[in-house]
Amino acid sequence: MRVLAVSGSLRRDSHNRRLLAAAARLAAGVEFTVWDGLADVPPYDEDLDVEPAPAAVAQLRAALARADAILIATPEYNHSLPGALKNALDWASRPFPANSLRGKPVAVVGASTGMFGAVWAQAELRRVLQAAGAHVVDEELAVPSAHEAFDDGGELRDAASSSCPVMTARASRWAVSPEGSRPRRTSSRARGCRPRVRADVIRARTRGRGRAASRARGA
Ligand code: FNR
Repeated sequence: MRVLAVSGSLRRDSHNRRLLAAAARLAAGVEFTVWDGLADVPPYDEDLDVEPAPAAVAQLRAALARADAILIATPEYNHSLPGALKNALDWASRPFPANSLRGKPVAVVGASTGMFGAVWAQAELRRVLQAAGAHVVDEELAVPSAHEAFDDGGELRDAASSSCPVMTARASRWAVSPEGSRPRRTSSRARGCRPRVRADVIRARTRGRGRAASRARGA
């Protein structure tokens, strides 16, 4: 399975990049690629949104199309997602509705130095992704106090305690089962207080898609 990971931060020492690196180490058996082209994407301009698309945009769309699932780690800027990330997703949402995000499983996580772990940015990011037609998985991971959350090796010091308070506050949320069948209520623990759960969720959600793709390729 191919996972494309996107950091919403351009910063060299970004905590969100660190979060993706930690996720990559958990993703055994998964082709995990971090997309590094965010800084090259031009401001969205409908006049430029023609074929051929600007090179950075074409690369983004191709990378999204090739992925079986997408993992986005977003910082929070002024209670919202960073402009560069929103801009890239505006490009990715076109042409509409047949864009490279449509029906694609996407998991959203976030780290911020504030108390809440970019929860507002994550919520807005989810809305943008849903508007573009992506299948946004319900499970969440918020890493507050990100400047204290990682050890020198880049591992989350205590993933459970750093993310559980926010998740517990949302314990009444409904979660859709991996099969996409009946909604069921889950506890905060089952909904994923550890980043490990997110990798499992993505795997479970895309297993069927992967098998279908293999069949289509004759594998
Ligand atoms: C922030 N930061 C921030 N944090 C937060 O929890 N809520 C917020 O609304 C904001 N707003 C905000 C605006 C701007 C312009 C900046 C530069 C920063 C702090 C932010 O979460 C922190 O800098 C993170 O470390 C950024 O993520 P990366 O770059 O470490 O991945």
